[in-house]
Amino acid sequence: MAASSSFMKLLLLLPNILLLCSLVSFVSFAHSHPLKICNFDQIYQLGDSISDTGNLIREFPIGSSTSFARLPYGETFFKNATGRCSNGLLMIDYIALDAGLPFLPAYKDRDADFKHGVNFAVAGSTALPSHVLAAKHILSPVTTSSLTIQLGWMSTHFNSICLHHRECAEKLQTALFMVGEIGGNDYNYAIFQGKTMDELQSMVPEVVHAIINAVRRVISFGATRVVVPGNFPIGCLPIYKTAFHTNKSAAYDENRCLKQLNDFAMYHNEQLQQAIEKLQQEHPNAIVVYADYYNAYQHLLHFAKSHGFDTERACCGSGGKYSFNMTRMCGAPGVGVCADPGRFLSWDGVHLTQEGYKIMAGWLVHDIFTNLHCHF
Ligand SMILES: *[C@@H]1O[C@H](CO)[C@@H](O)[C@H](O)[C@H]1NC(C)=O
Ligand SMILES: *[C@@H]1O[C@H](CO)[C@@H](O)[C@H](O)[C@H]1NC(C)=O
Ligand SMILES: *[C@@H]1O[C@H](CO)[C@@H](O)[C@H](O)[C@H]1NC(C)=O
Repeated sequence: MAASSSFMKLLLLLPNILLLCSLVSFVSFAHSHPLKICNFDQIYQLGDSISDTGNLIREFPIGSSTSFARLPYGETFFKNATGRCSNGLLMIDYIALDAGLPFLPAYKDRDADFKHGVNFAVAGSTALPSHVLAAKHILSPVTTSSLTIQLGWMSTHFNSICLHHRECAEKLQTALFMVGEIGGNDYNYAIFQGKTMDELQSMVPEVVHAIINAVRRVISFGATRVVVPGNFPIGCLPIYKTAFHTNKSAAYDENRCLKQLNDFAMYHNEQLQQAIEKLQQEHPNAIVVYADYYNAYQHLLHFAKSHGFDTERACCGSGGKYSFNMTRMCGAPGVGVCADPGRFLSWDGVHLTQEGYKIMAGWLVHDIFTNLHCHF
């Protein structure tokens, strides 16, 4: 709403009343595709499975053998697996659509056209380098392509498309950069490998620092618009609700999410937002915007509950209260898939369905848009 009101102010400055008719139709169009106004011509994404559009499945040796490389992943939109960890589109796909750009090609897809941007995100990746996690006895089980590695690919890519820094900076003025979501896996691996909540808490400054350093690096490449997402309310996800199930009703909030885990996600998000504000002061010429996944998910839950969604169970999974079993996950032999993924929030107990991502992205785009100050 704030987005359209600031745009209305802009319109009021325009003197030619005869233009009004065509502008009114433009406003309603802009309202449904707010990012169009930004005129982004490229999007660059760093991150993990929330935004990977095909990198992990192209990684040697285990990528092609992960379940993300096979149906039922991708069954709804592409009718084939693309490496997206969902039944269909991800939030970054909806963001690209909203900006009027093609879906982001995976960096590892060497046949792809990178004219409108590149997706460096790798499912399973972490904010901290895997050797830093290993020193804390935390194993990165699927990939070592952490944020630092992805930034290296980004640097290589920019060196291949521009001759020198000035040319790159000029080219990237009209690009949108997404740094994350990333960091969620650092905590996921820690907790599922036996770390305590206190130990997780003590990792937050380091994880936030790694994310902020990545933002600094993309600004040094020439980025002027950077979006930095926070973490999901992880206590709402079937994987966590299964692992930390308790009969104590006081452990759950009004949405049946585990409070302690959601509080932890909020703690990370608060640290991240403070760090973004500080960074923003250091770099007045770039705009760094926090993307509030936590509240986007709360909006999604609210919407889902009033529209008859299943907010508890995974669509693809097996057994238990939440249709989730770590040893028999989506894609494993004999694991069932729901008939109507459009009525589920969780696709596989960890990642959302296309429908879930679509609703979250719709909320986020409006929220982010105002803060991006797109009056170039
Ligand atoms: C499905 O995707 C795989 C890669 O994940 C590709 O090799 C295959 O050709 C695709 N099949 C169809 C019918 O598009
Ligand atoms: C919760 O209650 C059910 C039934 O009352 C019981 O079977 C189960 O063991 C309890 N679980 C825990 C974690 O206490
Ligand atoms: C998960 O699956 C394994 C293997 O099929 C089974 O032994 C176990 O009981 C299941 N756990 C739950 C909580 O259903």
